[in-house]
Amino acid sequence: MSDHRSVWLATATHPAFDSLSADLDVDVAVVGAGITGLTTALLLQRNGARVAVIEAGRVGAGTTGHTTGKVSSQHGLKYHQLIQDVGEDKARIYADANQQAIGKIRELADEVGADCDFETAPSFLYTTAPDEVEDLQAEHDAAARLGLPATLTTETDLPFRVQQALRFDDQAHFHAARYTAALARTLDERGVQIVEQTRAMGIEEGKERVTVKTEHGDVRADHVVIATLLPFLDRGGFFAKARPKRAYGVAAVLRSGFLTGMHMTAGSPTRSTRPWTDGDRRGIIVVGEDHETGSEEATPARYGALEEWARSHFDVESFEYRWSAQDFIPADGMPYIGRSPRSTRTFVATGFQKWGLTNGTVAAQILAELLDGRDHPWLEAFDATRIGDPSTLTNLAKDNLKVGAHFVGDRLARLRSRSIDHLAPGEGGIVKADGHTVGAYRSADGTVHAVSVDCTHLGCTVKWNSAERSWDCPCHGSRFDCDGAVLDGPAVRPLSQVEVEIDQG
Ligand SMILES: Cc1cc2nc3c(=O)[nH]c(=O)nc-3n(C[C@H](O)[C@H](O)[C@H](O)COP(=O)(O)OP(=O)(O)OC[C@H]3O[C@@H](n4cnc5c(N)ncnc54)[C@H](O)[C@@H]3O)c2cc1C
Ligand code: FES
Repeated sequence: MSDHRSVWLATATHPAFDSLSADLDVDVAVVGAGITGLTTALLLQRNGARVAVIEAGRVGAGTTGHTTGKVSSQHGLKYHQLIQDVGEDKARIYADANQQAIGKIRELADEVGADCDFETAPSFLYTTAPDEVEDLQAEHDAAARLGLPATLTTETDLPFRVQQALRFDDQAHFHAARYTAALARTLDERGVQIVEQTRAMGIEEGKERVTVKTEHGDVRADHVVIATLLPFLDRGGFFAKARPKRAYGVAAVLRSGFLTGMHMTAGSPTRSTRPWTDGDRRGIIVVGEDHETGSEEATPARYGALEEWARSHFDVESFEYRWSAQDFIPADGMPYIGRSPRSTRTFVATGFQKWGLTNGTVAAQILAELLDGRDHPWLEAFDATRIGDPSTLTNLAKDNLKVGAHFVGDRLARLRSRSIDHLAPGEGGIVKADGHTVGAYRSADGTVHAVSVDCTHLGCTVKWNSAERSWDCPCHGSRFDCDGAVLDGPAVRPLSQVEVEIDQG
């Protein structure tokens, strides 16, 4: 049985930091200690700013600690669509910025002495289906036009034949958690104050200063950077501009047939692979099974599907780790980076579409320049205050109709819930207890954990995720553990716990 935790977090040691114990006063407060927040903090510190990093959980343990670890500008079937959505000029900036971010990560890894297995490798987007060849040709033409190192081929190092592959050279993969651990150690050595287990609950902007209100005290600064995957602020409305999607990963040890390249299917189901080594053991990471957060599809069968696929294509000896995580998909394919709408002192970086190792590094460079009083040539393409063209607005409207449908439909579905007494050990769901609707999970030893099912963000009904034993919100992606503690924002407050009278047997 594989270990249910991220391969990266299981094989890296992050430094530990205390929670906030007294109010702080700095030039820039960075909220969130994933790759985006830590890289931004490093570049700001280099510019001479006094910086504090505020992290709700542990450094590097958000989505960055659950990634595939590809450091690449090949982002699936991206560029053909992106040119249509935002035009060639902005698509070129996206391509350049992400390709350059590969070198930037290598440079920063050297600077902070990160022992993070950074390795250059080609990346392949491929298909085995004849009817998908055209998509790859269109993607090739778009990528080549934007100046990316793209070639069409049928030669890959995969142990099966492909109909067509799009190869990007000069790409890389690395150990993301060892990278964030080294960033955090260096920040600490350079006097950046990092606090963990300290959730930011709100931001108060004044004329002169901005205050980050946390659960343990205040951090006052000239500016704040919200690098929390999705901003938790309602101001800016990012929760309505990007949709949450989860995906699953497994790490497998192989007996033979080791890969050197990275690969991803062009069509469905998505299967993203890359080489993985752990001491003497060699294998692959397989990631896929995407779905919207808060859907019925979050079940352990997701891991089974990845493992079955891996066994049928590779010489698998064992599966060692399994994990899942989420990221946010922007309506027009471009992340939101820069000043937050209707703010003067608050800056954001979000909507990385599962490609935030490079995009988060791009964000850090833009934000560090802006906060140093300079413009950045990439800003116009990523600008977080953009409204979007009519087709983007139509997509947003469709997404928000879905959210409305969840708000109403999921409330009606509550009426059909069964009695809490019918919950089997290991099972969770929305049930009736003492005439009330609650969310309950009965652990293997029979203990029942019951919570309110009203999401503390904007009140949608959370759904049980049986793959992770969590309560996930279908509206904007907040997640809570079985006792209601926040796992993922934008919610900042826990689900309330509910006392229930039940037959514990
Ligand atoms: C399955 C999967 C595979 C992926 N693979 C790749 C890949 O191969 N290559 C790639 O480029 N990208 C990949 N991505 C995307 C990439 O991992 C993310 O986009 C990137 O890690 C985001 O980094 P971040 O720092 O913005 O967010 P995170 O790493 O999530 O960091 C945000 C931090 O903010 C903290 N936080 C949240 N709310 C608060 C609060 N209120 N107060 C204080 N702290 C708070 C969180 O605890 C967290 O530590 C993948 C994503 C997924 C889901
Ligand atoms: S995340 Fe917004 S209502 Fe739940």
